[in-house]
Amino acid sequence: MSVRIAPSILSADFANLAGAVDAVGSEADTLHVDVMDGHFVPNLTIGPPVVKSLRKYTDLYLDCHLMITNPGEYLAAFKEAGANGCSVHVEVGETAALIAQCRDLGLDAGLVVNPETPIEAALPFLDRIDLLLVMSVHPGFGGQKFMPEVMSKLEAVRAEVDRRGLKVAVQVDGGIDVNTAPVAAAAGADVFVAGNAIFGSDDPRAAAARLRAAAASS
Ligand code: DX5
Ligand code: ZN
Repeated sequence: MSVRIAPSILSADFANLAGAVDAVGSEADTLHVDVMDGHFVPNLTIGPPVVKSLRKYTDLYLDCHLMITNPGEYLAAFKEAGANGCSVHVEVGETAALIAQCRDLGLDAGLVVNPETPIEAALPFLDRIDLLLVMSVHPGFGGQKFMPEVMSKLEAVRAEVDRRGLKVAVQVDGGIDVNTAPVAAAAGADVFVAGNAIFGSDDPRAAAARLRAAAASS
């Protein structure tokens, strides 16, 4: 299975995001942009204006993880800003409509499940999304501890994607490092989001390369 590394800029220096993009270089397959509204999660981050600035600086695929209560009100703005894909949480509801809205806008559509959400909430949408993200921490902050108990959900997603011959990316996000990436890879993940393990390092490019090797070794 191919391994893709998605550095999360949440752990980068927000005053120097261009430097973060340069620092990770060709080891980034996509760039993971964590959008938080202080309501769906107890933290505030960034939105379309920052995506617009990143779009001017890089051709990398911009993968926006929307930890917000009302994503439908902002999808068009993310598209306009230059996002490639937007992932919405299944917990916010109106999932079918939000996926359809992404499609209509020409955005790749992702669906995210929180640690406490049963995977059955997402599986009915598998045939109309590009990415399914299984959270391996409670969303809101970088640098938290990986939750191995969600691995059974990754296994269920992988089994269903393969059984149905779908091309859905299976993403894992939270506490991913060289020790946990192989665990998530063995459970079926193929896209690895990492913030602290990459941007907390003196050499983000080397850290991302180590992560890729660790994930591929499982
Ligand atoms: C958490 C975010 C993650 C976060 C991961 O709410 O969705 O993308 O940046 O950070 P690490 O890799 O440090 O756990
Ligand atoms: Zn994220």
